[in-house]
Amino acid sequence: MTISSPTPLLGGLTPQVFMRRHWQKRPLLIRQAVPGVLPPASRAELFAMAAREEVESRLIVRQARSWTLRHGPLSRRALPRVDQPGWTLLVQGLDTHLDAAHELLARFRFVPDARLDDLMVSWASDGGGVGPHVDSYDVFLLQLQGSRRWRIAAPGDQTLVPDVPLKILQNFTPEQEWLLAAGDMLYLPPGWAHDGVAEGECMTASIGFRAAGRAELRSEVLQCMLDASERPESDPLYRDPRQAATDTPSRIPEAMHEFVAREVARWLAEPRSMACALGEVLSEPKPQVWFEPGQPLLSGQGVRLDRRTRMLYDDQHVFINGEALLAGGRDARLMRRLADDRELAAPLLAKLGDDATELLAQWAQAGWLHSLPT
Ligand code: SIN
Ligand code: CO
Repeated sequence: MTISSPTPLLGGLTPQVFMRRHWQKRPLLIRQAVPGVLPPASRAELFAMAAREEVESRLIVRQARSWTLRHGPLSRRALPRVDQPGWTLLVQGLDTHLDAAHELLARFRFVPDARLDDLMVSWASDGGGVGPHVDSYDVFLLQLQGSRRWRIAAPGDQTLVPDVPLKILQNFTPEQEWLLAAGDMLYLPPGWAHDGVAEGECMTASIGFRAAGRAELRSEVLQCMLDASERPESDPLYRDPRQAATDTPSRIPEAMHEFVAREVARWLAEPRSMACALGEVLSEPKPQVWFEPGQPLLSGQGVRLDRRTRMLYDDQHVFINGEALLAGGRDARLMRRLADDRELAAPLLAKLGDDATELLAQWAQAGWLHSLPT
């Protein structure tokens, strides 16, 4: 897919037009966005995943007007019978667990990786759902199997039903309604109220995005800059040869305020270290992700990033799984290519310099990338 080609995924719009007209602005219903879509996991596989410690899952059961929520791990016995109506199991981060889910998520890489979050899959029995709610992030809701009725409303009254364990809107007045079949998809910008109810058993994928709050991003980036900043060998001390005698000894001297303001501003003005910290923060894998040690690279074969690897870059750096490296020239071009394509063919790999080749070998050992099969 190129960003200037119309695609069925976006109802015949090009990614460029979609981003301009719809992204963060208005919903879009797309019939047969992914014709013949196959769920990345079967119902049984999804249930088995929910029982695993390292998989994030939730069970939501509705009985009349009461809702219950349980967080995973959830053994099969903790789940109601599949013919019991009104319940749903949601499994987060399938893209880090299954290649097929990772590939489904990769179709949405017309949005920067720094904003793509994860692929969640829900299975619902007849009548199941999570209730009317709003999300603070954009979402594509792709119907994988069976049918689900979606009702949506523009951002409005966000009063929640009191005393329920979920965030359910008290005054949801749907404005539009559609029945989605397998392959259909609904895009919603942040803040749009929505309620999806299964008609018969169904599976839905949510392609989720992430956006840090201002304060959150600020503190994460500052913390990362702090962690990286070393005390210089010679740390010039504060000096005050002009300090006059004082009869208010408890007052902090104004010159000391100025000294600190100057030093902090100087430190913040290092554009490279801020960019470096941002890349490290954004490429940090999620806490539940870990890598098994990998195999040495096979000579003469290309490489592919592991589905769990987060690789990003800017003009000066390449970032991989929370680590930064300064890269320039041909090596940087090849590393960027690896990040964008998530693989690098053997002839391009052969053009990497010695240091970069050694780095790739280390990344393979860490399980961050693997040799491509021939
Ligand atoms: C679901 O799959 O049931 C919930 C997805 C959502 O509303 O965000
Ligand atoms: Co939602």
